[in-house]
Amino acid sequence: MRTIAIANQKGGVAKTTSAHNLGAALAGLGMRVLAVDLDSQASLTISMGLEPLEMVKTMADVMKRDALPIRECIVHVRDGLDAAPSVIDLAAAEMELLSMTGRERVLDRALGPVRRDYDFILIDCPPQLSILTINALSCADGVIIPVKTDYLAYRGLTLLEDSVSEVRELINPKLEVLGVIATLFDTRVSDDRDILTLLQKEYRVLGVIRRRASAKKGIYDGLSVVEQEPGGIIAQEYMAIAEKLIEGVDGNG
Ligand SMILES: Nc1ncnc2c1ncn2[C@@H]1O[C@H](COP(=O)(O)OP(=O)(O)OP(=O)(O)O)[C@@H](O)[C@H]1O
Ligand SMILES: [Mg+2]
Repeated sequence: MRTIAIANQKGGVAKTTSAHNLGAALAGLGMRVLAVDLDSQASLTISMGLEPLEMVKTMADVMKRDALPIRECIVHVRDGLDAAPSVIDLAAAEMELLSMTGRERVLDRALGPVRRDYDFILIDCPPQLSILTINALSCADGVIIPVKTDYLAYRGLTLLEDSVSEVRELINPKLEVLGVIATLFDTRVSDDRDILTLLQKEYRVLGVIRRRASAKKGIYDGLSVVEQEPGGIIAQEYMAIAEKLIEGVDGNG
């Protein structure tokens, strides 16, 4: 079993798209996957075809005092793929969380009873280094960092790395950076190519996802690109990353 946080404090770098597609890819490869939406924007929840306001129980109930057992908010999405949905109320729960003792470990405690039910737990983080992101890093074995191939996104990586180091030192020694996913890559833009070269020099690049209109296609139907267009270039790239993650578990690497 592996718990993976998909994190970057930078907004719009394809964290949610990556969480959704990797979740679908891993499930397609026979893994039992739980996708946890830890963002009050509920983008992952919506992408998976769930309506946040129709959810009776959500992560907002889990991430607070007198926490709801996470099992009670888990929704079965499709074969091998479950979701722990979010809703805007998670923003209020986050405020409450701030005043709690052991606030960094609330998600870790919540996941305890369901960990054995899954091969992979993927956590979609919000675009801040907030207490919610710290909770994800505190319970994860690894973190995957989606990063847009532009200069400012690249420069923003050190901030996240500092947080990862801090969490590793103070809370979760097992946390490792599994690698980055270069996202929204446009081969025609020289800046994109330059940044990709830099990323490849300095980080383990798990995959390169091109900017394509088709990346958004499935969202209206609650489907990932992996399900909507399995033969396409984006789906293939996410599938290849999923295979690397499975190898990582099997090889214990
Ligand atoms: N490969 C791609 N090609 C084109 N558009 C993409 C691709 N991947 C993601 N997008 C689009 O880019 C936008 C941002 O993606 P996404 O929501 O996954 O990022 P995020 O990092 O989760 O954002 P936030 O920080 O707001 O949570 C979305 O509109 C998404 O549909
Ligand atoms: Mg997101």
